[in-house]
Amino acid sequence: MRATAPARAALFKTRPPLNISRAAFALGARSYASKPQTLKERFAELIPLEHENVKAIRKEHGHKAFGPVTVDQVYGGMRGLPALLWDGSVLDAEEGIRFRGKTIPECQELLPKAPGGSEPLPEGLFWLLLTGEVPTVEQVQALSADWAARAALPSFVEELIDACPSTLHPMSQFSIAVTALNHDSAFAKAYQDGVHKKEYWEPTFEDSMDLIAKLPNIAGRIYRNLFGSGKLPAIDPTKDYSYNLSNLLGFGDNQAFVELMRLYITIHSDHEGGNVSAHTGKLVGSALSDPFLAFGASLNGLAGPLHGLANQEVLIWLQRMIKQVGENPSDDAVKEYIWSTLKGGQVVPGYGHAVLRKTDPRYTAQREFALKHLPNDPLFKLVGQIYKLVPDILLAAGKAKNPWPNVDAHSGVLLTYYGLDQMKFYTVLFGVSRAFGVAAQLIWDRALGAPLERPKSYSSEHLKKMFANRS
Ligand SMILES: CC(C)(COP(=O)(O)OP(=O)(O)OC[C@H]1O[C@@H](n2cnc3c(N)ncnc32)[C@H](O)[C@@H]1OP(=O)(O)O)[C@@H](O)C(=O)NCCC(=O)NCCS
Repeated sequence: MRATAPARAALFKTRPPLNISRAAFALGARSYASKPQTLKERFAELIPLEHENVKAIRKEHGHKAFGPVTVDQVYGGMRGLPALLWDGSVLDAEEGIRFRGKTIPECQELLPKAPGGSEPLPEGLFWLLLTGEVPTVEQVQALSADWAARAALPSFVEELIDACPSTLHPMSQFSIAVTALNHDSAFAKAYQDGVHKKEYWEPTFEDSMDLIAKLPNIAGRIYRNLFGSGKLPAIDPTKDYSYNLSNLLGFGDNQAFVELMRLYITIHSDHEGGNVSAHTGKLVGSALSDPFLAFGASLNGLAGPLHGLANQEVLIWLQRMIKQVGENPSDDAVKEYIWSTLKGGQVVPGYGHAVLRKTDPRYTAQREFALKHLPNDPLFKLVGQIYKLVPDILLAAGKAKNPWPNVDAHSGVLLTYYGLDQMKFYTVLFGVSRAFGVAAQLIWDRALGAPLERPKSYSSEHLKKMFANRS
């Protein structure tokens, strides 16, 4: 059953669906030419172009193969298997991440900044991820205001967070709260109301904007309940997303921390589609689960120690090291500690990567931030000392394909410096950031009519028989 016009208008919160009529849209755009174009308006314009683009790619290349899939890849966590479409970013093993073709330094240079700030505003990055275009300052300001207007949580979600025991890991609380936002999902409602599949993207866009907008209030509430004191401040509608997040955590008056959050969210937002959190969100979304359900699932993947929880693990590992070898350890003492980790059958957290084969540029960006803001911090110096020692040891151990540091090797040290030293909370900040990349792809997946994901699996018995007589 199709939704009635009034029901659909309510669903889209009085904003008319933009692909109802291209002519009407063009007319509207002309009549308020002085107003900056919104993200939703720009996205609506891009959909038919991208449909044509995909059609042309499939027509010309659709029958071409990437290469053989080996049995080892089936057993080996599908490493390197080309299987997913992901438009926001592509990860090169040697060079690292590019967001819509732009490196991290290029994003730092090109994306709009806050007045007096030098790091990119994550609002601009979201615009870039979704459209492939660099927005204007006005467009970014409008996005900040839009997210601020959407930031309030339903009271039952606040109560849900408050009811969590303090012993429940912040990531579990985060996942519970995000999943519960599905209660008010525009997509779930539209689907029930019989929305046409061509219009899936609109309620997905609305949900995704709501999701991103509400994350600071969820994160702030969890943080204050567990570690902070005092009431949560209100969202300031005149300020940017990172300021509001910082303020909710209790760091709003620390300009450098707010700048760190801008950089942090930007570099953690997206890392192409195959990593656990991104792929999980896409997979769950492919069943037409709404963005809250899809991103709740992403968070559960991010909470694993080989993925996002590694930032917490790095700090725990560093603290243990300091306890064992003291505050200014010799290189030999640090080496011995690293070897003891490996001999204990554990991983060195913050090192290695499934795709990267060089130092992660997200690590480098954080190192540069530290050199600018906290060059003499002892923990930063220890991280630098470890950077000089771990790669040779991992190479000597002979297992890890990539001995270099990843993003998680550095983030906790910066947060600790500013007083956010509750490492159990670190992955929540990664989660706030990762929503940007997952949400952008979910919107495109609905706009392009991406199908249900359903790869083929085999049993070992089947594989043995299948390849028995092949060389
Ligand atoms: C990220 C990670 C999961 C990638 O896994 P992967 O693609 O399987 O990595 P590799 O192919 O290099 O792994 C080969 C072997 O080296 C080991 N290895 C990889 N990185 C290692 C590390 N940092 N410390 C110790 N051993 C490591 C693996 O555990 C594996 O051992 P196994 O053969 O006994 O199973 C892995 O490097 C890791 O566990 N790193 C530490 C956790 C971390 O920082 N995660 C955040 C990633 S952004």
